[in-house]
Amino acid sequence: MGTAMEHTTLQRLIQDARTILQDNLHEADGKLFVMPSGSLYPAAWGWDTPQIAEGLYADQPDTALRLLEDYLSYQWPDGMVPHIVFPGIGHGEKFDATAYFPPPHVWYMTGDSIDDYAAASPDSFMRHPDYAHTEGKTTGIAQYPIWALNLRRMHEQRPIPPKRLEKLVEQLDRFHRFFHEQRDPEGLGIVAEFHPWIGCDNAPPYDKALHRIAATATPEELESIHRQRVDVKKTIAAGGDPSVRPTDEDYVAFLKIAHGLARAGEKRHRGEPVTTDDIPFVVYSPMLNGMLSRAEDDLALLARAAGREDIAGQAASRAGKLRQGMMQHLWDGEGFAYLDGKTGEKENVAFLGSCIPLLDEKLPDNVRDGLRQQLRERFQDGFRHGFATTARDNPARIAGKAGFEACYWRGPVWLNMNELLAPYSDNPKTIRDDALGLAAKEGLREYYDAETGKGLGADRFGWTAARVMGWAKEALHETAQQKTAHGRFSERIIGESANEHHRSRA
Ligand code: GLC
Repeated sequence: MGTAMEHTTLQRLIQDARTILQDNLHEADGKLFVMPSGSLYPAAWGWDTPQIAEGLYADQPDTALRLLEDYLSYQWPDGMVPHIVFPGIGHGEKFDATAYFPPPHVWYMTGDSIDDYAAASPDSFMRHPDYAHTEGKTTGIAQYPIWALNLRRMHEQRPIPPKRLEKLVEQLDRFHRFFHEQRDPEGLGIVAEFHPWIGCDNAPPYDKALHRIAATATPEELESIHRQRVDVKKTIAAGGDPSVRPTDEDYVAFLKIAHGLARAGEKRHRGEPVTTDDIPFVVYSPMLNGMLSRAEDDLALLARAAGREDIAGQAASRAGKLRQGMMQHLWDGEGFAYLDGKTGEKENVAFLGSCIPLLDEKLPDNVRDGLRQQLRERFQDGFRHGFATTARDNPARIAGKAGFEACYWRGPVWLNMNELLAPYSDNPKTIRDDALGLAAKEGLREYYDAETGKGLGADRFGWTAARVMGWAKEALHETAQQKTAHGRFSERIIGESANEHHRSRA
């Protein structure tokens, strides 16, 4: 774990973060976007954007707000804020499949098997009813609803102009309502993830569901996915190890779920009810529900600041409902479990996301104490760096299955997750200083090996830059304060001894 850092190193980190955030901005369709990383992610993402905007806000408040507003202009009529926006593609056009896979038209294709997507005819996706309002510029799912958390922190830093704040509040209210209206197919009072690309792609709690879906794939489909994947090719070209990426089986399942959702979307447009049977992947997670219940409370605060008591009241009551639902359906007495809506199976598979309900400060004290203990014992103790994404006690990890140190959401340290959870640990500054140490040594990477600290995944990564910027400023501020305090202390000592000197001479 890290130690206090030199002034110059902190200043260099802030400068590096600033340059990365600036370089990743781009304009298309008359809108401003930010890429998570120019190398691996050449579009704009739905939970990266607010996390990055918060990092930009201190230096460029107007740019940061525009990023949020422009992204939200792609919000769907049902309130969904899409997981990726591909700015600049024209009507009927396909995004360059060598730049990113899968290209967005995949989300409008209702077939059951893996296709050669670059060769798909425009008719195969343009006739989907959702194409009419998105023009194929967005994917068909949402990511984690972290927006209100970031916006609340931005507003506390410097008040957002009232008109802009009110519009953002209205859009986030519609986004939150979308989860309650469209993501609770069983009416449980909690909301479900319909795709792992909500944010933690290959996290261990998804293994069984993904395996079940991939098991239906033919060898030809696996081969086809392997050929089309761009992430692996880019990782190899950058000198990285492709095994840090999800597997081809994962990708086959990711694509099959996307097609299943496109079919469910068609059904909804026909006015037929969509049930759990229509959705290939339905996972009620503590990460989504804990984040949403916290986001509802943050939205309530923002709504009050914007003079919208109506929205504030509704958001607070939705938070209460989620809290109750989480306790009823996901709490297992010691921690929060993931519930598979397809099989009814409930498991606490030792993924860091199970601690995210710590963000909800209104959960009962005994629950929060239990979560704090899990955070420490399962995700921190015994690891050299940060909170790891998979616990030491994950049975598959103990059995020595590959990939748990360096593979994406199956072990490595993600600085955004650490920043969210650090305030609830026994030693937030240790987590912060360790993260700054990783960034100073390895660069602003997508994630880091929890044992060796090696930087992995995309480089010049947006939300890492945003978090490092905030943390480095905080650390600089502290050292400056310590210096001033030390200065005052020394002055007092010098003053006192001078007085004594005077007295003794008198
Ligand atoms: C990966 C991550 C996801 C993130 C995206 C863009 O898919 O799993 O959480 O939003 O990259 O950074």
